[in-house]
Amino acid sequence: MTAHEMLAAAMNGRKETAVEEGGSAARTGALEAAIFDMDGVVTRTAGLHAEAWKQTLDDILRRHAPDGASWQAFDVRADYLAYVDGKPRRDGLRSFLRARGIQLGDAEEEAAAERKDQAFITLLRAQGASTYPGTLALIGALRRRGIKTAVVTSSRHGRQVLGEAGAAGLFDACMDGMDLQAMALAGKPDPAMFLKAAQRLGVPPARAMVVEDAAAGVQAGRRGDFGLVVGVDRGGNADALRRAGADLVVKDLDELDTDRVEAAYRSRQREVAWRIEQEGFDAAREPDMESLFAVGNGYLGVRGVYDIPPPGAQCDLFVAGIYDAKRGDLPYSELEFLAPERDGDPFAELVPLPFPFRLQASVGGDPLDLSGPSGRGLKRVLDLRRAVLHADALFETAGGRQTSLRTRRCASLADPHLLLQEAIAVPLNHWASVEFDAALFDSARFAADHPQLRLLEHMATPELELLCFATRASRFDIAIASRVVRIPGGIRRLLSIFTSRDAADPKQACLAHSRALSGADFEQRLDEHAAQWDRFWEAADIQVPGHPAVEQALRFGSYHLRLPAGDDPRVSIGARGLSGRAYEGHVFWDTEIFMLPFFLHADPARARTLLMYRHGTLPGARERAAATGFRGACFAWESTLTGRDVTPDKVILKSTGKEIPIFTGRQQIHVTADVAYAVWRYWEATGDDGFLLGPGAQIMFETARFWASRVERDGRQYHIRGVVGPDEYHHDVNDNAYTNWMARHNLDRAAFLARQSGVHAGEADEWADIAQAMHVPQPGKDGVIEQFEGFFALDDYSLPVAERFKAPVNRLFDWEQVNRSKLLKQADVLMLPLLFPDAFSDEVVVANYRYYEPLTDHGSSLSPAVHAAIAARVGMRDDAERYWKQSLWLDLSNAMDNSMLGVHLAAMGGTWQALVSGFLGVRMTAQGIKSDPRAASRLPRDWESVTLRMAYRGHTHAISVSREAAKDTGS
Ligand code: BGC
Repeated sequence: MTAHEMLAAAMNGRKETAVEEGGSAARTGALEAAIFDMDGVVTRTAGLHAEAWKQTLDDILRRHAPDGASWQAFDVRADYLAYVDGKPRRDGLRSFLRARGIQLGDAEEEAAAERKDQAFITLLRAQGASTYPGTLALIGALRRRGIKTAVVTSSRHGRQVLGEAGAAGLFDACMDGMDLQAMALAGKPDPAMFLKAAQRLGVPPARAMVVEDAAAGVQAGRRGDFGLVVGVDRGGNADALRRAGADLVVKDLDELDTDRVEAAYRSRQREVAWRIEQEGFDAAREPDMESLFAVGNGYLGVRGVYDIPPPGAQCDLFVAGIYDAKRGDLPYSELEFLAPERDGDPFAELVPLPFPFRLQASVGGDPLDLSGPSGRGLKRVLDLRRAVLHADALFETAGGRQTSLRTRRCASLADPHLLLQEAIAVPLNHWASVEFDAALFDSARFAADHPQLRLLEHMATPELELLCFATRASRFDIAIASRVVRIPGGIRRLLSIFTSRDAADPKQACLAHSRALSGADFEQRLDEHAAQWDRFWEAADIQVPGHPAVEQALRFGSYHLRLPAGDDPRVSIGARGLSGRAYEGHVFWDTEIFMLPFFLHADPARARTLLMYRHGTLPGARERAAATGFRGACFAWESTLTGRDVTPDKVILKSTGKEIPIFTGRQQIHVTADVAYAVWRYWEATGDDGFLLGPGAQIMFETARFWASRVERDGRQYHIRGVVGPDEYHHDVNDNAYTNWMARHNLDRAAFLARQSGVHAGEADEWADIAQAMHVPQPGKDGVIEQFEGFFALDDYSLPVAERFKAPVNRLFDWEQVNRSKLLKQADVLMLPLLFPDAFSDEVVVANYRYYEPLTDHGSSLSPAVHAAIAARVGMRDDAERYWKQSLWLDLSNAMDNSMLGVHLAAMGGTWQALVSGFLGVRMTAQGIKSDPRAASRLPRDWESVTLRMAYRGHTHAISVSREAAKDTGS
């Protein structure tokens, strides 16, 4: 399956968000086809059409004018361009007459369309069709370069006109209004005709350009995701063409040659790879979009809800660390489950706070509402480079008044307490004013939407609104100030947010911050924000030339990983960051094992902050160990502020009320060794002795103490019993290979560190002894490591291949049966070669991959990336690519069907790791960091090269793997 097919399948046919990838040209990314509109681009027939319309429409206008009243004739320039140009005849007719308040019956409409046709034929016969020499010259040059050409027109006489003009032989494919009718395709601005033409040429739209003189045609090119859209302005239409999305507007095609076309195409490819675009408003998809288009800055995150929130939107603002007691009515990690309220932990759930970007707008008293009768269209663009979310919406209110509303927003990376928003309305065909209401506080909904909050104060003046509230159980105070500045056509809003976790008096801090802001600073603040993102991208960007879709998705992942990563060591990154409510904002092993490597090499300071969070939760981890009768510190499987475990012990199936027990909170203790592993990896990657000998050592020693008390001695060996390993489909298991291996590593490194630092000598010996005598399941004769004691004897489970790529949440409904079966939720044994690549031979890795992969249903988003990394390492390229792409596009394709609850950050971190350590085989050595010499031959098949930078021990290293270079050096 090509990536494109996979995307298409995963998106269930919905067109959104991702750049297209696929086809043979994917390798070079070259332009392969050019599709031309006919009238006004190839042939000089637009004037004939306009004249034919005038004859037809003036007659209708005259007839519909009230008796004796004067009427306004059809304007062959303005009206033709605005309403009719490029559209199928009946669409054009309707759109013009609607603007004049005239509605025809069906038969009347058909008759008018016929008359226009006749008028056109008569004019064509009388005047003939000539061509534009500049267009013919460009077509000739393109064809000489091997670029295919097609012509597409809504005109029913397309072939006839081309014939008369002597231009028919210039095209490999031709589609006219007759084809449109025969195939029942929608007309422009729908992209159907262009897509069909591209299909006939055998070229993916992303590798084709569209050349159009009509705004509707440019829109169609854009909506079809064509690689380049060129607008031809034959007079007075340039702005409309640009607004419709043309990349390039020329007066005549003689301004272009093939070099200029290809340069524009390449530059568009580069730009597109920095953007996530989505077009159309679909209430059912909005919840996913809200997660994908989230903005954030480490301190806070805001879901990408449209500025005028449609009903039912999950309008959440999250501030890192603002937790409160659990509310039972919110879903847990999946929509099917509820987690009951539990034992009053005041920090059990990340609190959804009021939406700071809330706007209302109206035209002549009619509200603008995408989900209501006025909504006409929406296009969102997330500019990943600058981390700014843009939205361009179109509304139509009473009397056919069309208004475009452009908004943009960001969460400043330069000032974590600052949010910026701008909204500009452009009346497109009327003079009515657009009214904005930027009130933050929705008194009607506050209590229902925010059960965890108590309102303390609400104050509003024309310039400033202040909202103060407190969480009920955790007693945090939060203050939000909104300063609104009017600008021509719209407003700018600068928001300040403080909490009692970061200011003694959040209200005063908020007011002071807000007072220091002025509307005039808006652009400068935006630039400061963008400059910080620039710095991030300098360190974090990955280039895969010729593969904009891959670059785009990688950037999307890095963007989302950066959003919840702040510089406050009292908080860490939850499984879904600050982008959604799944898992209640809890922190899992996801952070240390899946996300941390990205930060280690892209932003080491933030990696340290993440580990300092675990250091800060040691007291909770100590209490947890003591409460279960052990020594040392046992980190929480699900953690928030204190280190106390906040894993629910059951979830409730919404449909039946059935309780499903959750064993992970009590048994998934490998997280303790995972944190120790991360401490060690951090030190290896940074050489930060200060950290290792200080907070790092405390973590290493306390966790080793836990294992020393948790192991059970049996004869000469130590065992760890009653656990859940990474594969959560099995609980109460003994000697899980992963857990025992990680615990041994933890004990061994702690003993080494203690001896090096000359502390805890007695304990160090004990730790070393236990590590030595730990029972760690070994590869059998066939090389396979048993996942835990007795795994091989479990029941067989037949797992249809197709089910391995869906989120099979319903498996949990039969958890008892699953527990008895050879069915894995996610990589378990296979985690080991990922974390310890040099400890296993390729033969052992292959044997375990071949054994476990068919038993795994990837019920966790963490799983595909691990499989990709392992398959890449051993050169199983088909599997490696398939799993990697599944992980790369996991949220963009909503593969788990639950992105609406937040993006999957561990999958994003895992994707990065699979690329770096799997495909590129990057290893740390005493000499530095370098890729595996065999990496060039393991790259995904159609890649030429990959380039990235990695921080390692205080230096930045450029890593570049290229097939060409490999050929040159003969490796
Ligand atoms: C996975 C865990 C993971 C958690 C949070 C679960 O579905 O099985 O490994 O830590 O999700 O992402």
